[in-house]
Amino acid sequence: MPDTITLERLYERVRQAIPPVEWPVFADDIAAILALKRERDAVVLAHNYQTPEIFHCVADITGDSLVLAREAAKTSARVIVLAGVHFMAETAKLLNSDKTVLIPDTRAGCSLAESITAADVRLLRQRYPGVPIVSYVNTSAAVKAESDICCTSGNAKRVVESLGVPRVIMLPDEYLARNVAAETEVEIIAWHGHCEVHERFTAAEVHSLRAEHPDLIVLAHPECPPDVVAAADFSGSTAAMSDYVATKHPARVVLLTECSMSDNVALAHPETAFVRPCNLCPHMKRITLANIRYALETMTHEVAIDPAVAIAARRTVERMLAV
Ligand code: 13P
Ligand code: SF4
Repeated sequence: MPDTITLERLYERVRQAIPPVEWPVFADDIAAILALKRERDAVVLAHNYQTPEIFHCVADITGDSLVLAREAAKTSARVIVLAGVHFMAETAKLLNSDKTVLIPDTRAGCSLAESITAADVRLLRQRYPGVPIVSYVNTSAAVKAESDICCTSGNAKRVVESLGVPRVIMLPDEYLARNVAAETEVEIIAWHGHCEVHERFTAAEVHSLRAEHPDLIVLAHPECPPDVVAAADFSGSTAAMSDYVATKHPARVVLLTECSMSDNVALAHPETAFVRPCNLCPHMKRITLANIRYALETMTHEVAIDPAVAIAARRTVERMLAV
């Protein structure tokens, strides 16, 4: 088991977010997870929306969807625990067919992934013959398998332009598609999926936050509606927002994205003041220290993908990683 010094060092990382009275509850699970990771030869990949005790205390790799996919492809560990949502675990499995990929709660879904099926994609292909289909990683493996290439919020414009065609279908996020369309000459046909977290931000909210804090820098995730992105100072993936704070050191910032992201970035950047309108992703919040521990103890829940689907879906993810 990890010693008291290791746990004290970990607490220093999250002291500003977790009161001392709550720490013992987390410390027990953290100690068990650190020991289990060694025992099982496991790594924990955590998305930027995971809570600080997961993100800062048990994760081996943290990042946006693109970083998690890239790092999943590189790891030599035998077991990957995906502290994130189901499509992220599927992507890790697609890139690691020989490894065990665990998701601590199978109900950790995503409103975007739920908004489209493989049959919908086949219909789109019939309706727009010859038009390439770019699917956001926030989709099931079955949807990826019907697509030509994947993208994430971190590389969407680059992927669209890499195809060298005048028109593409981009699914399922309507707002991401419209936000990319505003930055490229390529015509984009969108689907009508929305992220239930980001669609709640409004341009009126941005204006009133600016009125309240005249020095505020506004960073918006591209899953936000286009008028919100237009009202922001910068738009980018969760990793790009984090890099913006790390490199530009704004005095005051708001991250128009999921709540825990601000908690995690604020812990690393005490020099910046964070304004926090909080929109929570209920799917991301299904992952807890307790169920990460249980996943490693019991080696559940293992992600499995139909081999026929996996071959085609892997191709679209690998094609994206090569761009
Ligand atoms: P990122 O790839 O920017 O981390 O976004 C993933 C996501 O689910 C945002 O809601
Ligand atoms: Fe899906 Fe939105 Fe949650 Fe991201 S924040 S996982 S896009 S529901």
